[in-house]
Formats: sequence, structure tokens, C-alpha cells
Amino acid sequence: MKLVKLLCAAAVGCMMSAPMALSTAWAQDQIVIKFSHVVAPETPKGKGAEKFKELAEKMTNGKVKVEVYPNSQLYKDKEELEALQLGAVQMLAPSLAKFGPLGAKEFEVFDLPYIFPNKDVLRRVTEGAIGKQLFQKLESKGIIGLAYWDNGFKIMSANKPVIKPEDVKGLKMRIQSSKVLDAQMRALGALPQVMAFSEVYQALQTGVVDGTENPPSNMYTQKMHEVQKNATLTEHGYLGYAVIVNKKFWEGLPADVRTGLEGAMKEATAYANDIAQNENDVSLAQMKASGKTAFHTQTKEEREAWIKALKPVHKDAESRVGKDLIEAIYKEAAAAGFKM
Ligand code: LMR
Repeated sequence: MKLVKLLCAAAVGCMMSAPMALSTAWAQDQIVIKFSHVVAPETPKGKGAEKFKELAEKMTNGKVKVEVYPNSQLYKDKEELEALQLGAVQMLAPSLAKFGPLGAKEFEVFDLPYIFPNKDVLRRVTEGAIGKQLFQKLESKGIIGLAYWDNGFKIMSANKPVIKPEDVKGLKMRIQSSKVLDAQMRALGALPQVMAFSEVYQALQTGVVDGTENPPSNMYTQKMHEVQKNATLTEHGYLGYAVIVNKKFWEGLPADVRTGLEGAMKEATAYANDIAQNENDVSLAQMKASGKTAFHTQTKEEREAWIKALKPVHKDAESRVGKDLIEAIYKEAAAAGFKM
């Protein structure tokens, strides 16, 4: 108990799950991980978080209890990162587009339109040297990166057909807090508006914004298809997550507990990345079946027009995310047989 208390004193935010009055030492010693996120439980991230909870509790023999808080129940986008740094929660999985305000703007490289020809190239990046280097950038912010989790490729939605890039011109488009996404929308002539995920449905419903971009699983589980008449399956950009923990908390854990949690994270990551594509496919099918949004599949020519309109964003982003980093990703794509 003494050891745990000391560890908890050292680890910001380490909390006992049970009141001190509980009689069993076991209950008193249990370490709680609050895992907060902003999406619905039935999304790739929501399911990944639940899988991690199940595995973490098993693989630490009950020494750890994971409490998952979905749907921005505890914190919205920006606040959750602050809460993690302060130790009010121990684990998050923010989208890679949300690390800019933290000072880790290199993560916005993932937002570049068409930078990942497919998930294999993405995986080469996240599982290789680039993924590691990006995680190292978080350490000075008091954060440790544990894993990269997929969601999927985004589609563009609005209240009018968005077939050609010009169709987005003049529309107010909700974006995540990424300067690269801001540049992307401006390249289309749209008016980007940064907004917390939890506010998007209402903003679309009331016309505060006209449209947005998200993978199908997010669009469906937030019911955005009920308030968007049109969507084009552009798949112009990737949305994925970094699972992160409070550094002090993580390093203050007993070694055996940390090893158990690492094992749980490895398995939960394989699971989350395995289900992500199917979850998005099912969500898209459900939205199509609902008949509320008309989905447009691009012709080859239409896709090329979007690529042409959006590729200049790569050059614009060099000063923000680093030319070397962008080129390192091109190299991974080239190694997988794609010319960027
Ligand atoms: C968004 O804000 O659109 C996404 O980052 C939400 C999420 O976590 O998938």
C-alpha cells in the first residue's frame, strides 16, 4: 500500500478506484486509468478503448481498472489534452489532427490530402522510424505515445452536391484544429471553421456550418447524415489516432503493471486496426440505406481534379510540418511502389 501511495504521489492523477474505507487491500491498491475520448462507443476508437479495458484488467490481474469515458462525456477536444497534461485523466486517443495546439505541429503531416495512397503506406510510417520520432516529440509535453490507431479515410459532406472541387467554394466547413486542414479547405475556396467534435451535429443542423469531412463511422454515429444532404466519397485524407498517456503516471507505474498494460495495448491496437475498415464500410452502408444523404462515387477524372486542387497544400505545409518529414513519407510511398 505504501509503495502504491508513493507511486500515486509521484504520478499526477493516479487515483484509487475505491474509497479508502474499503476493507480489502486489493481494492485499495487498484490503479485507475481514466481513458477519455470524444467519439461514440460503437466506432473503431470506441471499440478499441473497450478492448484495451478488457485486456488491461485481465493482463494486470485486476491491479488496474480502466474507466472509459466516450462521447466527450468528460472533456471536449482541446480540454482533454489539457486534462491529460494535468493528470485529471491518464489516457486519451486524440486524432492526429489535434496535436498542433500542443506544439507538436509535425503530427499535422497526417492531414495532408492524398499523402497516403493506402493503409500499407500509412502503416510503414506509423510503425517505422517516423512514427517513433513523432512520439518522441510528445515527451517534452509530459506525454508518452503508445500506439497509432486507425479510423479511416474521410469523405466530404455538405448540404449541396460536392462533385467538383469548385463546389466547395464559399462553404463554411467544420475542421479539426489543424492548420494543414485549414490550408486544405482554403485551397478549395471554402471557409474553414475549427470546432469541437461534440458540437458538429448541432452546427450542421442549425446551419452554423454547411459541411464537414469525416470517415463514415464518425459521420454515422454522430447522425451527421441526418443533417447533410450530400457527400462525395473523396477519401482525400486520413483520420487516425495516437493513443497517449500522462508521462509521469506511466513512468510511476510498477514495472509488472506497465508490462501488462503494454501487452494489452499491443493486442488492442491489432484489434482496433483490424476492425476499422469494416466499421467504416458498415457505417457507410447504413447511411446509404437510410436514404438521408446522397452519396456520390467519384469518376477517375473527378478524383484527378480533386488531387490537382489539393496537392499544392503539400508545398504550403512545408514550413509548418517540415519538408524533410513530408519527403520521408513520399519515400515510404515510393518504397511501396507509389509515385507521389
Ligand atoms: C473529429 O474531431 O472530427 C475527430 O477527430 C473525432 C475523432 O476523434 O475521431
